[in-house]
Amino acid sequence: MTTHTRYTGLIEHYRDRLPVSDSTRIISLGEGNTPLIELHNIPRLIGKDVKIYVKYEGLNPTGSFKDRGMSMAVTKAVEEGSQAIICASTGNTSAAAAAYAVRAGIRAFVLIPEGKIAQGKLAQTLMYGAEIIQIRGNFDEGMSLVKQVADHAPVTIVNSINPYRLEGQKTAAFEIVDELGEAPDYHCLPVGNAGNITAYWNGYSEYAKETNGIPAVSSKVPVMCGYQAAGAAPFTAGKMIDNPETVATAIRIGHPQSWDLAWNVQKQSKGWFDSFADEKILAAQKMLSAYEGIFCEPASATSLAGAINDIATGKIPEGSTIVCTLTGNGLKDPDTAIQQCKDAHPVSIDASLDAVKKAILDNM
Ligand code: F0G
Repeated sequence: MTTHTRYTGLIEHYRDRLPVSDSTRIISLGEGNTPLIELHNIPRLIGKDVKIYVKYEGLNPTGSFKDRGMSMAVTKAVEEGSQAIICASTGNTSAAAAAYAVRAGIRAFVLIPEGKIAQGKLAQTLMYGAEIIQIRGNFDEGMSLVKQVADHAPVTIVNSINPYRLEGQKTAAFEIVDELGEAPDYHCLPVGNAGNITAYWNGYSEYAKETNGIPAVSSKVPVMCGYQAAGAAPFTAGKMIDNPETVATAIRIGHPQSWDLAWNVQKQSKGWFDSFADEKILAAQKMLSAYEGIFCEPASATSLAGAINDIATGKIPEGSTIVCTLTGNGLKDPDTAIQQCKDAHPVSIDASLDAVKKAILDNM
C-alpha cells in the first residue's frame, strides 16, 4: 500500500525544531524542500576532484531563500497579533514579505532603493500588492529608517534582525544534511546582511548536537565561506562602508545587520570571507547556466565564484564536498541576464520550413 504525504512547508516539516505550538496558525506557501543539485560539468571544467552541490533556493515560492525566513517571521507576527509588517529590501525580502502578508491577510510596507532593485522583484512586489515606499537612498539607509519607524508605528520588522527569520532559514542546513547524510566539508554563501550565513551555521550547529532530547544528526559542521561583491565588501574591508556598489544588487549592502554574528560564524567554523569583482560574479552566473542548466541571479553566483577561486588556490582541497547556496532565481533579474548575452544574436527568419531547415543546418 502506498501512503501519500503532502509536503506543506518547512514549519510543518521541522516543527519539532521551530518555535511553534499546536495552536499556532502556520503561514506557508510550501517553501523549502528545494533541490540540492550536484554539478557534473563544472568540476570537470576546472579539472579538480571535488564534489560541488548547489542548493537551488530560487525554486522557493517567491524565487528566493527569503521565503524560509518569511514563513516563520510572518507566522510569529500573526501569532503575536500584528496587523502589518515592514522591511527594507534590495528586492527579495520585499517580494517575500509581500507574498506572505497577503497569505496571512495583513499589510506589508516595503522600503526599496529607488531604481536599484531588479525588475522581476519589483514586478512581484507590485503584483502581491504591498505598499511600496521607494527611497532616494540605498538599502542601509532604508534599514536605518525601518528600525526608527518601528518605534513610532504598529509594524513588525521582518528583516533578518527579526530572530524568527533566522530560525526559518536554518532549515536549509537541515535539508542538506538530511539529504547527504552528513554535513558538507565547506559551505559557500553570498553575504549581504550576513543573516543567511548565520542561519545556516545555526542549523548545522543544531544538527551536530543533541537538541531538546533529539539526538545529533551529523557528526561535524562545515567550514563556512562568505563571499561578497568587491564594491560592497565590508567583511573583507573589516569595516562598514558607506557607498556600496555592485551589479549584484541583492547584496549591495555596506552596513550588514548581522555583523557580530557573522564574525562569530567565521571564527567558530574556522571559515573566511572574500570578495570578487562583478565580472567574476557574472562569469560564474553564466557558467552555471551554460554548463549546468541552472539559472540563478547574479548575487547568488557569488557563492560559486568564491568556491571556484578557493578550489583553484587549494584553500578548499581536492576530495572536499562543497555546497554553494544559490539564493535567488535568475528570472528575478532579466535585464542583467540579457545584458550578459548581448553577443548572442538570435537569427530572424521567414516562417517557412526551408528557412528553419537552413537555420538548423547552418549551425550544426
Ligand atoms: N542573495 C540574494 C539573492 C539576496 O537577496 C540576499 C539578500 C543575499 C544573497 C544576502 O543574504 O543578507 O542574509 O547575507 N537580500 C536582502 C533583501 C538584503 O532585501 O532581499 P544576507
